[in-house]
Amino acid sequence: MNIKKVVALAAAGALAASLALFGCSSGGGTDDATKDKGASGADAGYALVNDGKLTVAASLDFPPFENLNGDKPEGFAVDLMNLLAEEMGLECNYLPSTKFDTIVPLIKSGGKADVGVSSITINDDRLEKVDFTDVYCDVNQSITVLKTSGITDVAQLEGKKIGAQSGTTGYEWAAENIKDSEVIGFDEMTAVFLALQSGQIDGVAVDLPVANYYVRTYTDCEVIKEIPTGEQYGIAVSKDNPELTKALNTALKAVKDNGKYDEIVAKWLQ
Ligand code: ARG
Repeated sequence: MNIKKVVALAAAGALAASLALFGCSSGGGTDDATKDKGASGADAGYALVNDGKLTVAASLDFPPFENLNGDKPEGFAVDLMNLLAEEMGLECNYLPSTKFDTIVPLIKSGGKADVGVSSITINDDRLEKVDFTDVYCDVNQSITVLKTSGITDVAQLEGKKIGAQSGTTGYEWAAENIKDSEVIGFDEMTAVFLALQSGQIDGVAVDLPVANYYVRTYTDCEVIKEIPTGEQYGIAVSKDNPELTKALNTALKAVKDNGKYDEIVAKWLQ
């Protein structure tokens, strides 16, 4: 991604309008799914870690996609996984929150979870390790700063400290595009925003819908820039379990066709 390609949104109105867009709609996704549905586990030709259950690994710190409400997982992706599991005749079961940069390796090595669902952007590096389902959401990156910082543009962050979650596309984007910056990786997204508030870092690079969500709580912070990285989220599945990927794609198509996908978009993302 070339920083020069980043579109500067000059007018505050244009910025506000564009920040409201999330790019999740039932129109997206590809349709090469199979026709069968309703079977589960061995009957359907795929393996499951626990019989009758779809076991999900997620980093539950990424609202509005996956987050913890007390000890209960909630968010757009949590609702989506429950819908997909229901379509497949399975029960959806979330593991305790898992550090983001361990999820793809965990799915690759197998045995603990069937799927990794953590707003994982599909990219070449990850595609070498795992398979992904069809896309379930489109997002861009963003930069957030403290309102009092006077920073209004990415160029002003050159030579400064940027925080991001370790192993994320936000971390990579900042490291590659903000000149002379020091990018600091954190395990948890919440820790990144706390570091911004305490002045430990000068900016945060994270998926735009998540930045928009955090600044509702961290009201002294503001999103100053949308970075059009054009990222697409997919569900990570082991390369040894291609029938599970197919079954998930069939279920994803079904929930897009029957309107339930649009309902959860309206609930979480608009
Ligand atoms: N989309 C970004 C990536 O794939 C960030 C995902 C972080 N997810 C999370 N649940 N904390 O790198």
